[in-house]
Amino acid sequence: MSALPDLRGKVAVVTGGASGIGKGIARQLSAEGMQVIIADIEPGPLQAAAGELGAVGIEADVSDRGSVQALAESAVRHFGTVHVVCNNAGVGPMAPIADLTMDDWQWIIGVNLFGVIHGVQAFLPILRENPDGGHIVNTASMAGLVATPGLGAYSVTKFGVVALTEALAAELRQEGSKVGATVLCPGTVRTNIDTSSRNRPAHLADRGLADVDISRDDNPAYRWISPDEAGAVVVRAITRGDLYALTHPEWHWMVERRNERLNAAFHQWSEPG
Ligand SMILES: NC(=O)c1ccc[n+]([C@@H]2O[C@H](COP(=O)([O-])OP(=O)(O)OC[C@H]3O[C@@H](n4cnc5c(N)ncnc54)[C@H](O)[C@@H]3O)[C@@H](O)[C@H]2O)c1
Repeated sequence: MSALPDLRGKVAVVTGGASGIGKGIARQLSAEGMQVIIADIEPGPLQAAAGELGAVGIEADVSDRGSVQALAESAVRHFGTVHVVCNNAGVGPMAPIADLTMDDWQWIIGVNLFGVIHGVQAFLPILRENPDGGHIVNTASMAGLVATPGLGAYSVTKFGVVALTEALAAELRQEGSKVGATVLCPGTVRTNIDTSSRNRPAHLADRGLADVDISRDDNPAYRWISPDEAGAVVVRAITRGDLYALTHPEWHWMVERRNERLNAAFHQWSEPG
């Protein structure tokens, strides 16, 4: 797949860049010499992070197609083009499927899945026209590879982000494009995701989803990494042209266990009797 081995002087846009993983990605891309635009729905943290990182801060709501289109146009006005877009903004509250309201589904799909779709729609034409090539990084999660109780709605969105990125990467490869695509599937990263409901819009108030702070869980399976470590993983994936960017290789067994169950279901058809 297409890679961008030298990021110096190139232009990146990172959504959800005011906090957590997005801020870590923005910091690492800046350290590579990129000109960085961070976009976020929270104006105060956005301006603070832009100042701290030496980035341009642009307010945007990724669940709103017009807002993401305006972000893309602003980015081109600022820097003439874009090379890297990280569709990263997301929310992560939890609830059993049976407790979810339609407002919950609309909010979480709107931000986590339509946010990425809007980013691809708005930025892919710009990256395709860029003679240097480009790269799209979509933030999914380990929950985009394995579904677990309580994270069903979140997993629906993140499986969607994985599928979108896999198909997009294959299509770009088939057409011999200079644009590549990566799906970031982080494990546990220390961020503000445990207060995601701070950004829930008032018109989607009927809620079953609730914020859960799993960082207080002393489960030894959780290895917490910093947003900057996640950002470094993204830099490596862009410069190498990797489709999958993983932060927790020790969680491979979860994917293997799912694959074993799928394999067993397929093998039932080939077994006699
Ligand atoms: N923290 C983890 O352990 C973890 C693990 C896997 C995946 N992720 C994913 O990483 C991404 C970043 O989350 P984080 O953990 O850094 O959380 P975070 O809350 O620290 O950062 C998310 C950012 O997205 C912004 N945001 C929320 N809704 C938005 C909207 N509608 N439009 C624009 N910006 C919006 C928030 O204001 C915030 O700045 C998300 O997609 C999340 O699902 C996080």
